[in-house]
Amino acid sequence: MRTAICERLGIEFPLFAFSHCRDVVAAVTNAGGFGVLGAVAYSPERLDTELSWLDERVNGRPYGVDVLVPGRIDASALDRHAHLLDHVPDRHRDFVTHLLSKYGVSAPGRPLTAVADEFGRRVTAAGASGLIEVALKHPIGLIASALGPPPPEMVTAARQAGVPVAALVGTVEHAYRQVAAGADLIVAQGTEAGGHTGEIATMVLVPQVVDAVAPTPVLAAGGIASGRQMAAAMALGAEGVWCGSVWLTTEEAETAPAVKRKLLAASSLDTVRSRSRTGKPARQLRSAWTEEWDSGQESPGPLGMPLQLLLAEGAMNRISAAAERGEPGALELVNYYVGQVVGQLDQIRPARQVVYDLVSEFGEAVERLERLSG
Ligand SMILES: Cc1cc2nc3c(=O)[nH]c(=O)nc-3n(C[C@H](O)[C@H](O)[C@H](O)COP(=O)(O)O)c2cc1C
Repeated sequence: MRTAICERLGIEFPLFAFSHCRDVVAAVTNAGGFGVLGAVAYSPERLDTELSWLDERVNGRPYGVDVLVPGRIDASALDRHAHLLDHVPDRHRDFVTHLLSKYGVSAPGRPLTAVADEFGRRVTAAGASGLIEVALKHPIGLIASALGPPPPEMVTAARQAGVPVAALVGTVEHAYRQVAAGADLIVAQGTEAGGHTGEIATMVLVPQVVDAVAPTPVLAAGGIASGRQMAAAMALGAEGVWCGSVWLTTEEAETAPAVKRKLLAASSLDTVRSRSRTGKPARQLRSAWTEEWDSGQESPGPLGMPLQLLLAEGAMNRISAAAERGEPGALELVNYYVGQVVGQLDQIRPARQVVYDLVSEFGEAVERLERLSG
């Protein structure tokens, strides 16, 4: 299964694991895959700590870092001198207060304002630059950006450090733009993926992107959580696969227990592409939160990014805490980003086991195809 990307990055299997959890990243990297730490939730200082932790555990094996740099955001909210939360209209604040009370979410938890402005500013090119600077001080093997072309400063700094740049795309047009902006590796992510996602399915998107950007290598993402799906992705021309949802139910994942239980019980019909958590369409578990924002009669409609992200993050903090206390209303509201493969996730496994299961099922799938063609 060694593809050119394995040679280039020094890995055994072309299996990339996107996760916000350092334990998952370490486990996958140590199992021969390539862990990628999502950095958006971290301050530069905290990211430095997380990466030092990883450096001590991966024994020189390669891992990557991912930042979110949206091409388009609500610029009016970025006035440096104002608090971002001051831009949230009263109607939207009132709607959140109304939801928390309608669903009986009790203890206040962290107030909405406790989510620092810094969090909203981090999803901008300027905000991400602090994270990129920290990441490049560590021996990372890849830096990835999502939601827009990698900023020129990121490409220049990565080049100087000899670190390849990856970019996530949901259309062929995005792929052209990302390659022109300097991406060395394209992650073609279909609509079935968890998190921010476009409208084109992986099966349709991957071969188009592969042909469009050749000879730039392409990884397939979205809807891949088994070896059969991995074999299909490789048949489409991908050099490897990039998975996110499958790690959420691993032993190492820090997914909140109430959410983990919801994920294990969910079917592939239980996700929705909604703007209600970040202001941009992101696939997540359908819950009372997404239903109320997207089709509730009183909904003011989600704001743009980053304001909706701040509003939702503050509320979700309280909702998650209440869900962990077993409050029924909070359990209806609580959700998380996940893709349609959630319907396949019905047991908790160590991340290392997920890697081995994927690789061994991949081998069986390829043998089956060889028998068919033979
Ligand atoms: C919980 C979760 C959070 C995500 N956050 C990000 C992110 O911050 N940056 C990013 O590039 N991709 C993010 N993604 C998308 C993944 O990188 C990946 O493309 C996607 O999960 C692949 O599809 P799958 O969920 O079907 O495996 C996220 C995915 C999930 C499930």
